[in-house]
Amino acid sequence: MSITSVINYKGGVGKTTITANLGAELAARGRRVLLIDLDPQASLTFSFYAADDWERDLAYERTILQWFGSVLADEPTGPLHPYVLTPEPANALLPDGGRLDLVASHLGLVDVDLDIAAALGGSRFQHGSPHFLSLHRALADALGAEEFAGYDDILIDCAPNFTMVTRTGIVASEHILTPARPDYLSTLGIDYLRSKVSELVRDFNRVAAPGPTIDPQYLGVVFTMIQYASGGPINASRNYMRHTDSLEVPVFRQTVRENKTLFGTAGERRLPAVLVPNANETVQHELRQLASEFLARTRL
Ligand SMILES: Nc1ncnc2c1ncn2[C@@H]1O[C@H](COP(=O)(O)OP(=O)(O)O)[C@@H](O)[C@H]1O
Ligand SMILES: [Mg+2]
Repeated sequence: MSITSVINYKGGVGKTTITANLGAELAARGRRVLLIDLDPQASLTFSFYAADDWERDLAYERTILQWFGSVLADEPTGPLHPYVLTPEPANALLPDGGRLDLVASHLGLVDVDLDIAAALGGSRFQHGSPHFLSLHRALADALGAEEFAGYDDILIDCAPNFTMVTRTGIVASEHILTPARPDYLSTLGIDYLRSKVSELVRDFNRVAAPGPTIDPQYLGVVFTMIQYASGGPINASRNYMRHTDSLEVPVFRQTVRENKTLFGTAGERRLPAVLVPNANETVQHELRQLASEFLARTRL
């Protein structure tokens, strides 16, 4: 099993879209995939469930909010597997053996996030707190339960911040994947993200040693929403993609182009774009290639 956090400090760069489509393509290849929505904006959740259905069936009892509530309130923390959903219609299109599960999110996660920070004695996540390790490890520990052993891939869609909920995602992950648009602001945050992750790893390992430590690896930056003119990416995009050569982060060879029609209609259908039948769009091919490169990189 491999666990990957999808994160960038910038919103609107395609994190959720990459998470949903990468997961969907891996499941379409017969793999068992779990998506976890850690973003209070819940875009990943709403790409699989209509807002009305979410409100009626999920909001009060079946989202990560209730589980994080138990992280704060219960000793020991409650299990995570009761919150796992299997969204239709995406799963109806998968081959035998393939599975695309989801842990849904909730806007109320913002408040829980603040409560967890408070339980650590403030916003700087003091290492001296007796709860430092258990709170940071909450998601990692929950995913260690035998109910999750059957998944091949777990993808965590993180909010564009580095608060406690996001930190539990990073601590649980062996890999980090960073979608970015090829523009200045999207790439600016990448160095900052790297320094925040390094800081977290150092702090966590100092407290955790001699117990299990963490060492999440950068799979790389995936450039998304690339605008094409006749023949190739527009010049501005090309220049920024070249700029990342100097960032010392790996960059995926495969990029994902902008396609407003397909991503727009995919949302209404509650289907990741890569699963939309008979679309015959170049971007679907790119998403499949991206999944192949992802698998190759996670196996390195
Ligand atoms: N390749 C693409 N082409 C066109 N629109 C896209 C593409 N990728 C994402 N989008 C759209 O851009 C918006 C932001 O994407 P999203 O994945 O939600 O970003 P993030 O999770 O980083 O905030 C969404 O409306 C999404 O449908
Ligand atoms: Mg998102």
